[in-house]
Amino acid sequence: MLPRLPQPKPGIPGIAPYVGGKSKALGGRAIKLSSNESPLGPSPRARKAFIEAGKRLHRYPDGNATVLREAIGKVHGIAPERIVCGAGSDELIGLLVHAYAGEGDEVLYSEHGFLMYKIYAQAAGATPVSAPEKNLRTDVDALLARVSPRTKIVFIANPNNPTGSYIGKKELQRLHKGLPPHVILAVDGAYAEYVENFPLSLQDRGEGYSCGHELAATTENTVMLRTFSKIYGLSSLRVGWAYAPAAIIDALNRIRGPFNVSQPGQEAAAAAMRDTAFTAKARKFNARWLAWLSREIGKLGLKVYPSIANFLLVEFPKGKHNAAKVNAFLMKRGLIVREVGNYGLPECLRISVGLEEDNRAVIKALRDFLS
Ligand SMILES: Cc1ncc(COP(=O)(O)O)c(C=O)c1O
Repeated sequence: MLPRLPQPKPGIPGIAPYVGGKSKALGGRAIKLSSNESPLGPSPRARKAFIEAGKRLHRYPDGNATVLREAIGKVHGIAPERIVCGAGSDELIGLLVHAYAGEGDEVLYSEHGFLMYKIYAQAAGATPVSAPEKNLRTDVDALLARVSPRTKIVFIANPNNPTGSYIGKKELQRLHKGLPPHVILAVDGAYAEYVENFPLSLQDRGEGYSCGHELAATTENTVMLRTFSKIYGLSSLRVGWAYAPAAIIDALNRIRGPFNVSQPGQEAAAAAMRDTAFTAKARKFNARWLAWLSREIGKLGLKVYPSIANFLLVEFPKGKHNAAKVNAFLMKRGLIVREVGNYGLPECLRISVGLEEDNRAVIKALRDFLS
């Protein structure tokens, strides 16, 4: 008889591993527009804080991320006790699922939602459930219709990756109102900073925008997730944070690693958070080039989905100009964008906003390809 070999828990072999944006092109020069990183990089103050922290690499980090939580609390006007930091918001998504969902439970999210919601649900042995979208936008009614007695968490990214779409504050409140009190509403605001004070007034649509902070402040079952990987330009350092009711913070603190965020990460992130002028500059830069890219791609006759984040989802026609062929052509020019077939969008590519010359290179390459 063969010896019984170690087996992962049920559900784990069925996980399709997350594939990050490519970082190498075919030729020499590469312009990476595949992971929604900030083309401006971090605030110079964050860089300085990181280098300074490099002098103490032999010391464990502050396991409570005290200074970072205080910096976040001060800038956002929220209580540091209601914040927990993680190694990227990825870690916090995972901790939330592990703390609240297991075998027999369901984790609900929107059809084209961020892939890690499904992966962590499967890893915890829970059942991932997705709700269809309308025009690549989260559909609150469809989500509510799929809430069952087994639902433990509903994830929504607002704005969503990879669609760039969002739901307004009233819709978010309606979603929360429709959930039973024991179900957690997790609002992932990885791109929220690009929207707050966004120059294109969202109020025009009567919608307003919220990444859920009011709900996280006033209800017992809403969690807001944020990251330093996007507008703050610190993807490499892996720092994220959650703002949540005290009981949820307590649960996450019980199961996280004791030193889950590195000290250079904490110090750089705190400096980045405090440098609000730099963040405003990055937001303004993004707004300008997001609008430009969207307009120029539209002029090429391609379908661009409205986005309020730092990337655009572009749809290509079937046939000789399809997404896979465009992607191969861009790759040869050293332009790395993201294929999104694993998000159920094989006819689209996601393009992050880059520096001016990157954005111009994208438009030139698309124009050359289409002609
Ligand atoms: C919607 C969304 N949530 C969370 C993350 C994870 O970010 P990080 O783990 O770098 O904080 C991403 C990264 O692309 C994202 O797009």
